[in-house]
Amino acid sequence: MSIQTRTDDELHRIGSLKWAGITTTDGSPTIGAWVAEMDFGTAPEVASAMKQAIDDGLLGYQPPWIAPRVAEALAEYQHSRFGWDLPTSHIRLAESVLPALRATLDHLVRPGSLVIVPTPAYMPFLTIPARHHHDVIEVPSLHGRAAGEHSWTLDLEGIRAGLEAGAGLVILCNPWNPTGRVLNEQEMRDLQALVSQYDALVFSDEIHSPLVLDDTATPFLSYARLGAEFASHTITATAASKGWNIAGLPCAQVILPDDSLRERWDAFGSDIAHGASTIGALGTIAAYTDGVAWQQEVLDHIRANVALVDAALADTPIDFAPPEATYLTWWGFERLGLEPNPATVLRERARIAVNAGRTLGTGWEQWARVNLACSRHCAEEIVERTLALLP
Ligand SMILES: Cc1ncc(COP(=O)(O)O)c(C=O)c1O
Repeated sequence: MSIQTRTDDELHRIGSLKWAGITTTDGSPTIGAWVAEMDFGTAPEVASAMKQAIDDGLLGYQPPWIAPRVAEALAEYQHSRFGWDLPTSHIRLAESVLPALRATLDHLVRPGSLVIVPTPAYMPFLTIPARHHHDVIEVPSLHGRAAGEHSWTLDLEGIRAGLEAGAGLVILCNPWNPTGRVLNEQEMRDLQALVSQYDALVFSDEIHSPLVLDDTATPFLSYARLGAEFASHTITATAASKGWNIAGLPCAQVILPDDSLRERWDAFGSDIAHGASTIGALGTIAAYTDGVAWQQEVLDHIRANVALVDAALADTPIDFAPPEATYLTWWGFERLGLEPNPATVLRERARIAVNAGRTLGTGWEQWARVNLACSRHCAEEIVERTLALLP
């Protein structure tokens, strides 16, 4: 088996959001290196489960046997990949991760309380809470020397200040879009020790966990599995949608090991579970059960793209730390001061579409999020066109 990679022309013709969503101002096509999609299709096992559903006409509303089978598949996957013995009774379905966040804000977080978002952050974390009557406190994370042994780490003092100001929720993203960090046990213990002193919850978004690049070097640990004192304040959300590239077929999972939080979730959760698509659920089951070999190839490919970029940027003013997980990478252009900002310069002058740093938090205006889930040729092209911009 080998992963499919396509030429840029084919990708433009197919017209995914990643490749069709952004053009230059004069309408020229760009290399799509922004939204979290991969250019590799999905695992053959996932595709075949979904094709079978089409052949069988299983395209209607979610049947009752689906949710228990997704829960079994997730529990088996969590056990075999991460060593977590997760009871299936702690798992619920959700349409996707963001609706689970919205429901958490509406039903579980103290009404009107502030929401702490460590930045740089996945863009919707910064915009969704206010629409649900919760203002956001951005807490810029520590980087470089300030982050000690890590490339990036949470600013616990900033988070403490937010909790002191009355925050009712901390949004944790682990693995961390966009820095690619996988938080270690000590970092999570430090966060738990802090959050437990306040009346606050944690929404732990673990959607990128299947994309940990080296399980031995940086083992992924779910925050809520570290003990009852973690789980008692945590709503965990995950999905196969990033790891197997099926984000358009929603079927996320919410993990609630704490009896009381689970009971509170169950008072409204069926509405959110109902939105999970049947075909997405069948793809999810196949992904967790049979999709691991394909994914190992994807991870090998991403590791090689990351190594290529890391080597090419090493002696440049661009700030780049290789991710421990995910294909999303975070490039700093502060030493270059690109005007009006790096994403616009990359789009207009290099015809590469990336996410603008300012959309991932205040203070990150000279940064850009670059998606490396692409062919080797495309990764080389991204590097070459970016380096051509340097003075
Ligand atoms: C960290 C993170 N959470 C959530 C999502 C979106 O998830 P969903 O489509 O399940 O709402 C993304 C998509 O890129 C993401 O990167």
